[in-house]
Amino acid sequence: MHKLEDIFEARDFIFSKTDSRPTIGMILGSGLGTLADEISNPVTIPYSEIPHFAKSEAVGHANELVIGELMGKTVVAMKGRFHYYEGYTLDEVTFPVRVMKALGVENLLITNACGAVNTSFSPGDLMLITDHINLVGTNPLIGPNNSELGTRFPDVSRVYNPDLRNLATKVAIKQNIQLQNGVYAWWSGPAYETPAEIRMIRVLGADAVGMSTVPEAVVAVHGGMKVLGISCLTNMACGILDQPLSHDEVIEVAGKVRGNFVNLVKGVLEEI
Ligand code: HPA
Repeated sequence: MHKLEDIFEARDFIFSKTDSRPTIGMILGSGLGTLADEISNPVTIPYSEIPHFAKSEAVGHANELVIGELMGKTVVAMKGRFHYYEGYTLDEVTFPVRVMKALGVENLLITNACGAVNTSFSPGDLMLITDHINLVGTNPLIGPNNSELGTRFPDVSRVYNPDLRNLATKVAIKQNIQLQNGVYAWWSGPAYETPAEIRMIRVLGADAVGMSTVPEAVVAVHGGMKVLGISCLTNMACGILDQPLSHDEVIEVAGKVRGNFVNLVKGVLEEI
């Protein structure tokens, strides 16, 4: 379990590399990391250099922090994230969120690529996360609570901030981008779900399923940050169409919606 001093050590290291003081954080999921390339005056720090950060190995992720300006706002972006299925503890998965909070981040945009469970959605749609279901049976806050980071029993009735959701909805309408709304279910992976599991997940009330986001969102709320969650629905979940799922397809479709995704996020940043 990371200590408060570990968070401060990572923060001080980052502050030693840049004079920027970001108030907006972004976690960029599979195939969506190119948004970080639009950051001006970027300072790029590989995760491997940051004290106490784990090292990510997922395909399609660059594994670096990019700090700079985007749409007139000072931002810190995670290009690539740590996944539970890679074998990291949830403490390791969520440590960067603690560090972003220590950097001064108040609003955290969390993105991901995921599968559509709701059959009225289509691959390539973007989805505003309205709520989530934790199907993994563990929680990043398990363990001793550090009250300097947050309360023991945090309220999670509004994980995905209603004001930020309204803002994203307005921006999507203005830009003529179709934005679905839905509940995201967290699946540990790394195997995709079976058709029977997808039927179960639909019955439980989820519209999309993926292997990330929930741990980071829970820790962000614990730390008092406002969260906005945007999913890129890269495929219909297993069993909906009569075809196998592949990671290549996920990356390919995420690449195709990148334009809409980038415009939506930039529009949100502009007005935040
Ligand atoms: N299931 C879980 N995770 C995913 C999927 C999916 O269908 N697509 C992209 N990430």
